[in-house]
Amino acid sequence: MTIDFKQDILSPVATEFAAMDKLINEGISSKVALVMAVSKHVVEAGGKRMRPVMCLLAARACGLTNLDNAQKLAAIIEMLHTATLVHDDVVDESGLRRGRPTANATWNNQTAVLVGDFLISRAFDLLVDLNDMVLLKDFSTGTCEIAEGEVLQLQAQHQPDTDEATYLDIIHGKTSRLFELATEGAAILAGTDQYRVPLRKYAGHFGNAFQIIDDILDYTSDAETLGKNIGDDLMEGKPTLPLIAALQNTTGADHQLIRKSITTGGTDDLARVIEIVHQSGALDYCRKRAIEETQASLAALQHLPDSIYRQSLTQLAQLALNRIQ
Ligand code: IPE
Ligand code: IPE
Ligand code: MG
Ligand code: MG
Repeated sequence: MTIDFKQDILSPVATEFAAMDKLINEGISSKVALVMAVSKHVVEAGGKRMRPVMCLLAARACGLTNLDNAQKLAAIIEMLHTATLVHDDVVDESGLRRGRPTANATWNNQTAVLVGDFLISRAFDLLVDLNDMVLLKDFSTGTCEIAEGEVLQLQAQHQPDTDEATYLDIIHGKTSRLFELATEGAAILAGTDQYRVPLRKYAGHFGNAFQIIDDILDYTSDAETLGKNIGDDLMEGKPTLPLIAALQNTTGADHQLIRKSITTGGTDDLARVIEIVHQSGALDYCRKRAIEETQASLAALQHLPDSIYRQSLTQLAQLALNRIQ
């Protein structure tokens, strides 16, 4: 069965989604023209808007009927996400994002860092308006952990001995944590504390699967499809799961080449590394792990009452997996 994003996932919250998108555009307005130009450049390029959709669906799945605050929260989450991408592209020296030149490539690193900071500050500015200390605390703690995840990744760069447990710590911080905030935040807004943990687990495992898939695609996809350049991870000497698994599965010259590529970075050996990643069974292992994470995600969702919204959250997890199948 093919899942259609608009039809199967977005449609139950389509009205709220449109309102949320407007809030993002209002949120990024600034009296400083450059701040707005940079924010708009990234926001208008689109993106899948998966985190805000998840937030809106989770709010409904918890039984919330007035979605005014959930729309605001969803917009805040997308702003935080946008900020992390703007910063991430500086750190990763990436040139292409959402099919457009990145902010750092269009302007420069300084501008991208500062505008990323603005987006995070504005997100918290808007969050304060929701007047919910529990939510505010959850987001403050969560965003600290996102930053820690990115720093942990920086430390692992060029380290071929990085193991899967460390990799999981990294991706949980840099990626899954924001998905968790999106869904757990919805449960907090809905006043349904009993759904906080299940929704957090759903989003945490979903995020892990999503990042593993993103890391697979960095070795298998193309810039046209992804809207960002492939080979960036190898370029930066990032020990992502495809390489960790390739190291597990190889010996001799192939093993040494992967180790060397992580240590030095660069794309001189990209073609050969891609070949080894494919031939060694590393990608099969990554796919297996992504499926396991998705299954754990869906199991957690079973603790919520059945509804069309829960159904859409299920399909969102399945759709993410389809990207690699
Ligand atoms: C990109 O996230 C960063 C990762 C966690 C891999 P998305 O793939 O959701 O990016 P957009 O928002 O659709 O551009
Ligand atoms: C995800 O890391 C970025 C964040 C979660 C901030 P990546 O560096 O793997 O993401 P892409 O590939 O640049 O989108
Ligand atoms: Mg990156
Ligand atoms: Mg990536």
